[in-house]
Amino acid sequence: MNKITIVGAGRVGESTAQFLAAKNLCSEIVLLDIHKGVAVGTALDIQEVSPLFQFDTRLTGGVDQALMADSELIIITAGLPRKPGMSRSDVLASNIPIMDGIIDGAIKYAPNAILLFVTNPVDVITYHAFIKTGWPRSRVFGQAGVLDSSRMASFIAMETGYSIMDIYAMVLGGHGDTMVPMLRYCTIAGIPIEKFIAKEKIETIVERTRNGGTEILALRKNSSAYDAPAASIVEMVDAIVHNRNRILPTVCLLEGEYGHEDIAIGVPAVLGKSGITDIIELDMNETERKMFEHSASLVREDLALLKAM
Ligand code: LAC
Repeated sequence: MNKITIVGAGRVGESTAQFLAAKNLCSEIVLLDIHKGVAVGTALDIQEVSPLFQFDTRLTGGVDQALMADSELIIITAGLPRKPGMSRSDVLASNIPIMDGIIDGAIKYAPNAILLFVTNPVDVITYHAFIKTGWPRSRVFGQAGVLDSSRMASFIAMETGYSIMDIYAMVLGGHGDTMVPMLRYCTIAGIPIEKFIAKEKIETIVERTRNGGTEILALRKNSSAYDAPAASIVEMVDAIVHNRNRILPTVCLLEGEYGHEDIAIGVPAVLGKSGITDIIELDMNETERKMFEHSASLVREDLALLKAM
């Protein structure tokens, strides 16, 4: 890939730029931020890693949206993070106007780009961007489930002591306290986790996964998570850059899948060079369906707030 723009040179944006450069995933990274010095300084700081980590990626920073021009991918991390005690929905009203400015910039300067949203509440923001751009859903989606699944896989590894290389976890639904861990698809070497972990312990892991972002925020107090979120973004970018057709939980616009439309929420999607090419519909049992519907109903509450704005 040639050019990726990261909007927001805060901690998620910075870590994402570091990981992308270190993995040589593109030839040019632009960091955009309303604080010019932060964007330029962060880009320069990472550029100075290049002799040590041996990458040729060129990093620049700035404040001018024209810097987005010709980006193939725009990753949006800007906006207000939540503070301890706040839910992701509490930052909706503050973040929509910020997103509007960025989306207008993308429409003007990079009308063929893929937009990957990370800013919270990510399900609602992704939906908003889809409506505002009028672009196909293949090019407007969000990151949440890769992070939630990565957290869950980590907790499974910590509980069992088995290698993370053999652990697969899948978390769908909205990126909030009601996200939907799909336990039937959480495996160690292809074997369902129930074989290795007692029921009560699995419930603890599910709860910890749902509160994964909150746990880190409560510990750090002045910062949300950024390392695992950035690595999750990079996992999706890698799938796009290498046209891998990976099946990754992705915040997607639903057009009848899972019995829903006019909503964006986490479902398994096929990700390659043109973005999302397919959504995989899983048969859900009664428990999974109930959890998914509950999660969707909360996303819809936020969508109602959005529509009333
Ligand atoms: C989290 C934020 C990024 O889950 O939503 O840590």
